[in-house]
Amino acid sequence: MKILVLNGPNINFLGIREPGIYGRETYDDLCAKCREYAVEKGIDVEFYQSNHEGALVDAIQNAYGEFDGIVFNPAAYTHTSIALLDALKAVGIPTVEVHISDVSKREDFRQVSYVRSACVATVAGMGTDGYLKAMDILLGEK
Ligand code: DQA
Repeated sequence: MKILVLNGPNINFLGIREPGIYGRETYDDLCAKCREYAVEKGIDVEFYQSNHEGALVDAIQNAYGEFDGIVFNPAAYTHTSIALLDALKAVGIPTVEVHISDVSKREDFRQVSYVRSACVATVAGMGTDGYLKAMDILLGEK
């Protein structure tokens, strides 16, 4: 199984941005943790992060025929992006939506997820462990 771990805007600032909400682990720590878990589970994993909506659309399109699953934290674009929803629908790759924080307990504007309807599951509020949980879901282990 080949999985793309895809992250949206400001996730490259993990460890710096609002540590009370997102924790002290950096983006590199997150990738290392996912890579280690993937090795354990026999998953082939690749990473991509962008602060640009179109680049994320490109990454989803480029995943077509290349990846069996996507672990996706669209970050703020979760709450705004029809383009990302359409890209996920276009490629039809099983995708798990991940949020480090528990978005359900935050501001009203975070209660909407445009991508959710194209995802097989959502994991939120588990910190960076949510990415590992998402890999389990894609493996069918739930
Ligand atoms: C986030 C939650 C989003 O609302 C926010 O815009 C982010 C990160 C999370 O991982 O908790 O940037 O996706």
